[in-house]
Order: sequence, then structure tokens, then C-alpha cells
Amino acid sequence: MNRLVLQRNVQFLYEEQLARMEARALGCEDWDRDADNPWEVDVRADGCAAEVLNRSAYAGTLDGRSTVYAELIRPRYQGGEFNRTRSVNQYLTHWIYPYQGKFHPQMARALLNIAGAREGSLVLDPYLGSGTTALEAALLGMRCIGIDMSPLCVLLTRVKIDSAGAVEAIRGRVEALLEGTELDPENAGADEHDNPRVADFVRIARMVALSDVSRRRRNGPASFRKNLKAMLQSVEAHAEALSRFGISPGAASISQGDARDLAAAAVGDSTVDAVVTSPPYSIALDYVKNDEHALDALGVDLPKLRAAMTGVRGRGAKEKLALYNRDMQRMFREVARVLKPGARAVFVIGNATVDRSEYTTTEQMSEWAVRAGMEREREIPKIVFGLYNVMRDEKILIFRKPG
Ligand SMILES: C[S@@+](CC[C@H](N)C(=O)[O-])C[C@H]1O[C@@H](n2cnc3c(N)ncnc32)[C@H](O)[C@@H]1O
Repeated sequence: MNRLVLQRNVQFLYEEQLARMEARALGCEDWDRDADNPWEVDVRADGCAAEVLNRSAYAGTLDGRSTVYAELIRPRYQGGEFNRTRSVNQYLTHWIYPYQGKFHPQMARALLNIAGAREGSLVLDPYLGSGTTALEAALLGMRCIGIDMSPLCVLLTRVKIDSAGAVEAIRGRVEALLEGTELDPENAGADEHDNPRVADFVRIARMVALSDVSRRRRNGPASFRKNLKAMLQSVEAHAEALSRFGISPGAASISQGDARDLAAAAVGDSTVDAVVTSPPYSIALDYVKNDEHALDALGVDLPKLRAAMTGVRGRGAKEKLALYNRDMQRMFREVARVLKPGARAVFVIGNATVDRSEYTTTEQMSEWAVRAGMEREREIPKIVFGLYNVMRDEKILIFRKPG
């Protein structure tokens, strides 16, 4: 038997369940928890130790050896080199921009493993958001197609993934900007640069600063300066992690598009090895309003975006909900079309109650996915632990395309 020690931040029952499913997906057999220490488990890892050490999200050590992920998430105050924050979910470039409704990267990584995606696999996230799935897929050497309707999400994800490949040029530009005295996040001139990766990096640093100003009433120039430095540190850590752990990031194709029409984004029939995604939380979160300051600064036509975006489009709760439900059904049909036979799609989704009576349930979602041609494989209840420890239920729904 081999001794697997879970990461210390594994706290909830659903996390232990995902840890067990992940270990099995990576090739481990058996799962015998220590009677006294719930983090310690005996598994049989014959022939799959390297997979666990390089890919696992929930294993901290295997037979005393640290996993790559344990090194990546260890915060600086605990001697870590790749996480400048205090949160184990904000390592490398994951922390950049306060995006609401974001996945825990650890869960996204585990779900990729559980879905059966491996190095070279093609992964799709049709509701990219802040790019959590895409960044984890790249770190696992998977190819990824990421689609979102919001230009901010596209830009943000490209910066999180691609900046490590342009670290020298970015460092040069950041140093030059920090030497100047006029650093105003309202001034788009700061973004101008021949290298598009440098331009995108600075643009996102401005967006983070604008968000700090609008949401936290911070001083714009001071926040811009601070974010340029912090983001550069994280991009340097990202580049160092790739080299230290011999990671060849998979190619990521990140573009603006519509989950209801993946053909328009040139995603062909039966081409995708795994989908890991979270659609908008019904009509509960207004993604246009949330990021209005940044979308506006990027010159986005807000009414046009609002008229197209799932969960936001429509007038009043009733119409919004009807359109949301229709959009979800179209998306499930598209996902079923692009998945390879035998491949899995994972959705993190919650029940939504609107006006006390009208709601979209995970049961309905499941029914639509099945009607679209997928088989229901697992349904894992998960909780969201929020402010004042208020619990909200979500589900992780796993489907498989027959074949
Ligand atoms: C729950 S968030 C995804 C969060 C993501 N998992 C993360 O870790 O950041 C849902 C996303 O869906 C996007 N969206 C809404 N309607 C869409 C559509 N029809 N096609 C593609 N993206 C859409 C929103 O812009 C939002 O970023």
C-alpha cells in the first residue's frame, strides 16, 4: 500500500469524495482512511505514482513526496514560491482580477482529472469566466478551447495563461512604467506596445486598478502601481513553475463567442475530450453590471452585450428565466454535439429560486442534458461556504456521451 496525505485545505465531504474519485481516475486503487487522521489514506498506486505526483489536485504527498500542486499552492508565508497571496486558491496568476462566481482552481483541476482529460487532450470551457479551467488545463499540458461572451474574460484569461511566455518583455515595460510619475489607470495610453502580450498585461493591470477604485474606493494611480508589481511577480512565478516542474503548457485558444453556438467558434462535431464548466448561476448574477467599469473602459457596447448574455438578457425575472432555460437547452445540445463519443462533460451548477416560486433546478438541467444526448453519470452535492457561513447548495453534474 502507498500512503497518500490529502492537502490540509481539504475540509468538506464533497472534497474528500472528489479526492477519492480523482485518485481512482489517476490509476489508484482502494481508499482506506486512517482511523485517527482523516487526511491520511492508504491507496494502491502501483504504476501511477508519477501521475499522482504531477497531476493530482487533492493529494499533498504520496509516500512522503510532495505533489507538484502542493508546491504550487503553498502560500509565501509558509515558504511557498509560487503563491504571493494567503489563499491556497489564488496561486500563480489565478488571483488576477476579482471575478465573481469563480471556480476554485483546485476543484477545476480535479474535475479535469476526473473527466478523464490527460496531457494533449482537448478541453472545452464554453463559459470561461476568469479562465480557471483554461489555466489549470494548460498547467496539465492539455489543449483548451475557452469561450466567453465577455471581452474582459477573454483578455483576462489570455493574460493569465500567456504572460509567462513574455516575461522579459513584460518586466521591461513594467519597470519603465514604474519609473514614470504619471500612472493613471484611466489612461489607455499605458497599454500601447508592439508586443500584444505586453499590451494585454498592462491593460488588465489597469482593469484591476479600475476595479479597486470602483469597488473598494482605492486610489487609482497607487493601485495601478501596486498591481503592476504584484502581477509581474506572479507572472515570474508562473514562468519559474513551468521550468521547475518541466511543464509544457498545452495550447489555449481563447476567444469571444457564444456557448449556444459553438459551431461559430469552429468547434467541430465529436472533437472534444472533456468539458469542465460552470454556466451563469441562473439569473442571480449580473455579469455585465459586475464588471461594468472594466467593460466600459475596454470600449464594449454594454447594451449589446446585455441583450445577448445568458442570465442577463430579457426584461423582468420571468422573461429572463425563460430565456435562461432556453439558452441552457441550446448549450447542452452544442456540448453533446462537440464531445467525442465516450467523453465526459462536467457542469457546476446550482438551484435558483426567483420570486420565491419560479426556479431552475439541477434536475431540469440534468433532464435537458439527457435529452441532448448525454448520459447522467454522477451527481455530487457540493456546498458554497460564504459570508457568515451561510451555505448554498450546488451540484457537480457529470455526463458522458454514449459510445
Ligand atoms: C459562472 S461564470 C464562469 C466562471 C468560471 N468558471 C471561472 O472560474 O471564472 C459564467 C460565465 O458565462 C459567461 N456567459 C454568459 N452567457 C454566455 C454565453 N451565451 N456564451 C458564453 N459565455 C457566456 C459570463 O460572461 C460568465 O463569465
